Amino acid sequence: MVLLENHVVLITGAGSGLGLGIARYCKMQGAEVIVTDISTEKIQQLETEFSERDLLLTCDVTRIADLEFCQQQIVQKYGRLDAVIGAQGIFDGNVAIKNMTAEHRP
Ligand SMILES: NC(=O)c1ccc[n+]([C@@H]2O[C@H](COP(=O)([O-])OP(=O)(O)OC[C@H]3O[C@@H](n4cnc5c(N)ncnc54)[C@H](O)[C@@H]3O)[C@@H](O)[C@H]2O)c1
Repeated sequence: MVLLENHVVLITGAGSGLGLGIARYCKMQGAEVIVTDISTEKIQQLETEFSERDLLLTCDVTRIADLEFCQQQIVQKYGRLDAVIGAQGIFDGNVAIKNMTAEHRP
């Protein structure tokens, strides 16, 4: 039995480490995965591992424009998103999301 069939899962900071491990696990469990990382080089190295069902994108999670680009690509390809896993592990300075502006940088 697979746990994530018919699920679309976005993993940010997934070019290596925990994020890549989570992306591989979600895929193994039947999900369609969107693998994103700030490093284009890391994303390019993963192109052969993931399939056409999946989406690989360069995305710096601190940049609103990058996040909007991802949103656009995800909506276009899947029309929905079921889960988001943030694995980049960057420190936000303890600023609550509701207090962040578009210019906020960690
Ligand atoms: N690996 C572990 O066992 C472990 C255990 C506990 C906690 N952590 C914490 O989890 C976090 C991730 O650890 P890891 O081992 O996976 O590290 P990692 O360096 O292998 O992976 C982090 C990924 O995030 C990407 N990244 C960095 N800044 C980004 C940004 N602004 N936007 C998008 N992607 C960005 C990096 O390019 C990298 O591919 C760290 O904060 C680490 O301290 C890791």
